[in-house]
Amino acid sequence: MKNILIQSLEKSFFESLKYSKVAVLVDENTKRDCYPILKNFLPENHMLIEIQSGEENKNLQTCGYIWEALTKARFDRKGIVFNLGGGVIGDMGGFCASTYKRGIDFIQIPTTLLSQVDASVGGKLGIDFQGFKNHIGLFRNPNNVLIDTQFLKTLPERELRSGFAEVIKHCLIADVDYWQKITKNDLQNQDWTEITAHSIQVKYDVVSQDPTEKGLRKILNFGHTIGHAIETVYMENPDIERLLHGEAIAIGMICEAFISVQKALITTSACEAIQGYILKIYGKTPIETDFMDIILENTLQDKKNTGSTINASLLEGIGKCGFDIPINANEIRESILYYNSL
Ligand SMILES: NC(=O)c1ccc[n+]([C@@H]2O[C@H](COP(=O)([O-])OP(=O)(O)OC[C@H]3O[C@@H](n4cnc5c(N)ncnc54)[C@H](O)[C@@H]3O)[C@@H](O)[C@H]2O)c1
Ligand SMILES: [Zn+2]
Repeated sequence: MKNILIQSLEKSFFESLKYSKVAVLVDENTKRDCYPILKNFLPENHMLIEIQSGEENKNLQTCGYIWEALTKARFDRKGIVFNLGGGVIGDMGGFCASTYKRGIDFIQIPTTLLSQVDASVGGKLGIDFQGFKNHIGLFRNPNNVLIDTQFLKTLPERELRSGFAEVIKHCLIADVDYWQKITKNDLQNQDWTEITAHSIQVKYDVVSQDPTEKGLRKILNFGHTIGHAIETVYMENPDIERLLHGEAIAIGMICEAFISVQKALITTSACEAIQGYILKIYGKTPIETDFMDIILENTLQDKKNTGSTINASLLEGIGKCGFDIPINANEIRESILYYNSL
């Protein structure tokens, strides 16, 4: 990672690139807010490919549009694609570049906090298919990842807060000192340049020890067994306002910290510190008990399960996490009721 990661845009880096053609993939938001910054660094004859923002467009049809644009512009294998946007642009743009003419170069320029600290590391690329998230894709690393926190200035606060859940997660699973540091401040007073560097390092260290998620990499799923099950319910229920990924994961981290206490893996005071900070940043979204059965059903679908056993990644102290720890439906139910009671 160290040799592909570049913090802040640098003219000399762009000048050193030698490509036959350059395309920049954007959506309407990153075209408006981020492209004007990047443009100054690019050769004049680059092309722009604009797609519509949103997870609902991370699909094969949009890929068709991207591949067509590259084909019409006669991109050969010496062309390069810059993916300028959040995780949707990064995952899909990387997937399109990796499959166009059996793979051309691409550089990730993540512009959301979530994509900077999470999606940009680990080489997972792909799209959604027939209602299944990230169903079609591959592992491939970009040529470079350019992280520049000046892009975060235009990011809606709710998106920033959502991405911050992965930062909190990285501290909780791997670095108690950094947890102490971030919890001294609220969302508005964080040093994003330092935080992104730290968070990326945590994810990189974990991923490089287990690139294909056979074991250790599962600790990155802390908060996700329950959080993802809650996110799915909210997504499938048009009558209630959607929860962003990180907002659901924040709830999931409180629930899973509670289960860690029940299993005597962490102390009650550690759990209270975790829930206190998370509630301060995210407030509380009570989970309707009508959804309980569907949430429990969803946790059974989790990719980390073996057969009918739900495997979770649980804290074993602040800054340490275990994985493949069996939890049952009752423990999950109790943890959600606990969250509701806070
Ligand atoms: N590859 C991985 O390892 C990995 C990890 C986590 C998530 N993901 C994927 O990432 C996606 C979610 O990514 P996301 O949270 O970045 O959402 P996103 O890509 O949908 O971006 C969120 C919104 O912010 C806008 N935006 C982006 N940057 C902006 C900026 N600087 N200023 C103003 N607006 C801006 C976008 O247009 C969009 O409307 C999901 O598809 C998920 O599957 C991938
Ligand atoms: Zn996540």
